[in-house]
Amino acid sequence: MQRYRFYREHKFIIPLINDITRKIASTNFQNNKEISLLIKKLSNLQLVLTKYSEHEDKAYHSLLVNKGSNIHYDLENDHNDYEKKFCDLKNLLKIIKDLKNKKEKIAYGYKFYLNFREFEVKNAIHMNNEELYIMPKLQQLYSDNELQAIELKTYKLMKVSEIIHMMKTIFIYMDANDRLHYFNDINKSSPEKTKPILCSILKIKKNNSYLISKKEKDFLLNYFSISKEEYKNINVEDKNKYLWELSEGEFIEENMSMKSQHDPTRKY
Ligand SMILES: [Fe+2]
Repeated sequence: MQRYRFYREHKFIIPLINDITRKIASTNFQNNKEISLLIKKLSNLQLVLTKYSEHEDKAYHSLLVNKGSNIHYDLENDHNDYEKKFCDLKNLLKIIKDLKNKKEKIAYGYKFYLNFREFEVKNAIHMNNEELYIMPKLQQLYSDNELQAIELKTYKLMKVSEIIHMMKTIFIYMDANDRLHYFNDINKSSPEKTKPILCSILKIKKNNSYLISKKEKDFLLNYFSISKEEYKNINVEDKNKYLWELSEGEFIEENMSMKSQHDPTRKY
């Protein structure tokens, strides 16, 4: 039987980090503007990982502590290391920016690439360990309803448009089973949000094709008893933006409110 499980957002975070590795691999380290862009990307990633790991510590690890388990100890230490790791990575970029010798800039740029690639690999192992060891332990200690209750709080507090934006961002990295999981959670947490969210998500296109296929759409409309008429008439506009979606000007302008910026891994 399929048990309730956390950590589905890892499917989004893993490629998010890999996109940065790819960006670093093609960066011209002789160009300081390109290095500045990497510093910005690292700050955004740090924010995503910090917020998500704070949720893992507070919501998931506290469940283990309450039952006398400490299997999360090393993984929580990894979370605490993020700040130092990102500080070191950004400092190395600043050093490369200040170098005058072009050959040295390229040599240190390659060193930075290896450094970040190592972080990517270690982080993937960290996330695997959470799913391979923490999740089964939580399933052993708690019922599905008890585990689900942790996540339902999130959707109660999020606005409809925020949830739509989150889904728009993470759904392309997920399968139909994951998507149904999110819709079920929302329906249980805030049933009044199901129709506006589902009807809007089903209309979203990415790269000229719908985010959700016709077959999956028909299944979901039927599953949540939404008529074709309702589907046609309900659409919620989403004007949310994540940090990495902002243009350079917007970034500076909205910088002060960045701490409250919603991101797809935000939990309550
Ligand atoms: Fe983690």
